[in-house]
Amino acid sequence: MGQMLGDIAAILIALSGVAVIIGVVFIKRGDRVWHPRAMLVASALAGLFLVFYLLKWGLYGTTSYAGPEEWRVAYFALLVSHIVLAAANGPLVLWLLYNAFKSRFDIHRRWARWTVPVWLYVAVTGWVIDLILRTHGESAGGIRF
Ligand code: HEM
Repeated sequence: MGQMLGDIAAILIALSGVAVIIGVVFIKRGDRVWHPRAMLVASALAGLFLVFYLLKWGLYGTTSYAGPEEWRVAYFALLVSHIVLAAANGPLVLWLLYNAFKSRFDIHRRWARWTVPVWLYVAVTGWVIDLILRTHGESAGGIRF
């Protein structure tokens, strides 16, 4: 069950990344109808990802790194950059949507140039971390406070 929740979460975050790229292609072509649609789908997929991710975390706890020692520092650098940018991505997306719906497109455009790379970085590194932990991880059990 834990494995299945993890698989669903990984698929959802990948699809959200794909939807973001499609949304960018639309706006680069000047399509102001399909750009918001693609981006709203991307946001919904990212929200759904969060639900599955938190469900897995809550029910099955975390996984810790148990791979080769010489890769530990590189893994943690990747993990920390992923966590910091993932935490920033949520408010950034809400800020983008807020400004878009208020028709403040100059602000929207300015912040979008930062948010899109952050979003894609978080999605790709999330996949890489997931892959590393599937092969070199060990269950750390339930949440410890
Ligand atoms: C979180 C979701 C969204 C993301 C990541 C996003 C991203 C972007 C990006 C990358 C651009 C192009 C910036 C540039 O010129 O370099 C853009 C422009 C634009 N977006 Fe979004 N967008 C999102 C949601 C929306 C929504 C919901 C709407 C409409 C309600 C919208 C309307 C627009 C418009 C009209 C432009 C063109 C602005 C201009 O050139 O004046 N976007 N967006």
